[in-house]
Amino acid sequence: MDFVHLALRYLHLLGFAAVFGGWLVSLLKHKFDFNNAMLYGIATQLATGIVLYGLASADGDANHAKLGVKFLLALLLGVMIAIPVWKKREKVAAGHFYATGALIAVTAGVAVFWT
Ligand code: HEM
Repeated sequence: MDFVHLALRYLHLLGFAAVFGGWLVSLLKHKFDFNNAMLYGIATQLATGIVLYGLASADGDANHAKLGVKFLLALLLGVMIAIPVWKKREKVAAGHFYATGALIAVTAGVAVFWT
């Protein structure tokens, strides 16, 4: 794995930390507000993920079903996170909040457990 690939994978993990960390901070404050850490985190996941997908395809070892599912989940998360942040909503509905956290965890689970 060359340096560019490793650097992208590293940024992908930092993006995961940002989106999930931002959500956890809001959970622990009992605020149910979305924040810029989550917005920048999911944007990082989509950007680095798509390039990582391209690199894996070029190497001929991309799991297209797995990465397609991850892409759709991340796209859904992007919409769920970006709209309340852009509209400057003070908080989101509890169902929306917990669904977002669960979907982030499911997406990371797909990354790790779907081999
Ligand atoms: C919320 C969104 C996302 C989360 C939480 C997430 C999480 C992760 C995690 C934890 C890994 C590391 C797995 C491991 O090393 O065992 C990973 C790797 C990867 N992800 Fe994502 N991901 C997300 C979005 C995406 C998207 C949208 C794509 C592109 C379709 C993508 C493509 C990849 C690829 C190709 C790898 C393998 C990297 C490598 O080993 O070189 N990810 N992801």
